[in-house]
Amino acid sequence: MSISFPAAQFSQDQMYFLLRDSILPRPVGWVSSIDADGRANLAPFSFFTVVSANPPILGFSCGAKGEDRSGGQLLLKDTLLNVKTAKEFVVNVTPEKWLEQMVRSSDPLPHGESEFDHIGLQPASSTTIKPPRVAGAPVAYECTLEDILYFGDHAWVMGRVQHVHIDEAVYKGEMRVDLLKDNDTRPVGRLGRAFYARIRDEEIVTRKDGGQKGT
Ligand SMILES: Cc1cc2nc3c(=O)[nH]c(=O)nc-3n(C[C@H](O)[C@H](O)[C@H](O)COP(=O)(O)O)c2cc1C
Repeated sequence: MSISFPAAQFSQDQMYFLLRDSILPRPVGWVSSIDADGRANLAPFSFFTVVSANPPILGFSCGAKGEDRSGGQLLLKDTLLNVKTAKEFVVNVTPEKWLEQMVRSSDPLPHGESEFDHIGLQPASSTTIKPPRVAGAPVAYECTLEDILYFGDHAWVMGRVQHVHIDEAVYKGEMRVDLLKDNDTRPVGRLGRAFYARIRDEEIVTRKDGGQKGT
């Protein structure tokens, strides 16, 4: 027996909670960007995935910050404002050694105040774009803005990867990485509510049709 509901019967919050608590585990794209004055910003996004491998496009969904008290107009998160202005951003892979820092980087700070200072991590210069990356992230993808699609109060932001930084701790040679080798560099997964997953129990399942590339 299952219980079923038309999607239209959910309130906005109920649908958000259902998606948040059922589409999981989710990787966390830790997005660094800069504002018009060049000030750095860092925020986590778990509505995040690979959109295309060729060309390499990453995407994340940025919700609204809330509504402005007077006119009911939607307020945009700094990341979206920055990405719309600078048209560049970095997607940093979130390692479990920085799980707490990643969550704290979502604290609401006044515009222009740096999350890097707030969480005590260092920014490192990017090579092809202005926004900095997180120094020591296992992998950091420098992206130029490819497109933004708007759905209600969400913006689906897509960036084309222009340059890649790989921490030597996870580099295997020949452009390959192994993020699972050490616990520290394993990517965190976002679960429902305020739960997070650390990868601890992997198994190998090979495909019978031999369709698996590059194992
Ligand atoms: C693990 C985690 C995942 C999150 N995922 C998203 C997301 O996918 N989309 C979103 O709009 N906000 C998400 N948030 C909330 C934003 O990170 C938060 O609103 C942040 O303050 C935005 O920062 P900004 O205004 O500097 O862009 C997430 C927060 C956490 C802790």
